[in-house]
Amino acid sequence: MYTTEMSKNPARPAAPSEAPELVAAFEARVANDEFIEPKDWMPEAYRKTLVRQISQHAHSEVVGMLPEGNWISRAPSLRRKAVLLAKVQDEGGHGLYLYSAAETLGTSRDQMIEALHTGKAKYSTIFNYPTLTWADIGAIGWLVDGAAIMNQVPLQRTSYGPYARAMVRVCKEESFHQRQGFEITMKLAAGTPEQKAMAQDALNRWWWPSIMMFGPPDDNSPNTAQSVRWRIKRETNDELRQKFVDVTVPQAEAIGLTVPDPDLKWNEERGHYDYGAIDWDEFWAVVKGEGPVAKERVKARIDAWEKGAWVREAALAHAAKQASRRQKEAANG
Ligand SMILES: [Fe+2]
Ligand SMILES: [Fe+2]
Repeated sequence: MYTTEMSKNPARPAAPSEAPELVAAFEARVANDEFIEPKDWMPEAYRKTLVRQISQHAHSEVVGMLPEGNWISRAPSLRRKAVLLAKVQDEGGHGLYLYSAAETLGTSRDQMIEALHTGKAKYSTIFNYPTLTWADIGAIGWLVDGAAIMNQVPLQRTSYGPYARAMVRVCKEESFHQRQGFEITMKLAAGTPEQKAMAQDALNRWWWPSIMMFGPPDDNSPNTAQSVRWRIKRETNDELRQKFVDVTVPQAEAIGLTVPDPDLKWNEERGHYDYGAIDWDEFWAVVKGEGPVAKERVKARIDAWEKGAWVREAALAHAAKQASRRQKEAANG
């Protein structure tokens, strides 16, 4: 998910230098549910908001490979290993589609990677929590990918064409991720008392961080109104969070696990679950990089980038060699 707006400084509305008729035509197209494409005119604030949101989303996919990649070698069976490996590869693919979508807005891959490595760019707070047991892999698929789907399904209709199209494919894969996580949790919950306790412990630790993934409440989310008007966001943080709670609580009940929230109860009148207060101090601390494993995550990305330098160099050398061969052939032909 990874598209939570985590900046407390909202993008400014139309810059004074932008021609009002261009802004009006743009707003009319968006209001009419047309897709905005890379070469179309767009307000600078729209472009900046999208670059921030899409690159943050891309970073989250790639950083999100770390907590699960960590368990590939320890998955309890060949089947679990194969499934987890495929899932982690999917996340790498999601990162690549999204970096490409952001590049169409005029930012480069190198700029985005550098922003991640220097701590300027954010990624989803959820990946700054450690994966302590195998049950955590179940909880991540069920809850974290489950929350990602809630957030990403409406983004298939987001106003920026390349982002919306990337989301169509991503969503198909996310629903498989959610199912594999739920299946791991369901099996553990139906297993020995120790296995069931592991599943409950994972739910206890991942529940609150998962519902925080939707970002700050609407009354403290400065970019929400602008993003909804521009159809970058189609539903608010609180609306999406409520949907997630409503769908997930019955799933926990169905497999005999308890959601760790004493205030959780069905509200007949609203037709939704009421839930307890979220610890926003914890959320903002994790956003600022104080999550339990935040430093390890960024270090792992930087190490991978540095150790992979030879691959990038080799690919560039190969491409240059091919290009010069083609040139020679063209000259001779
Ligand atoms: Fe993903
Ligand atoms: Fe996923």
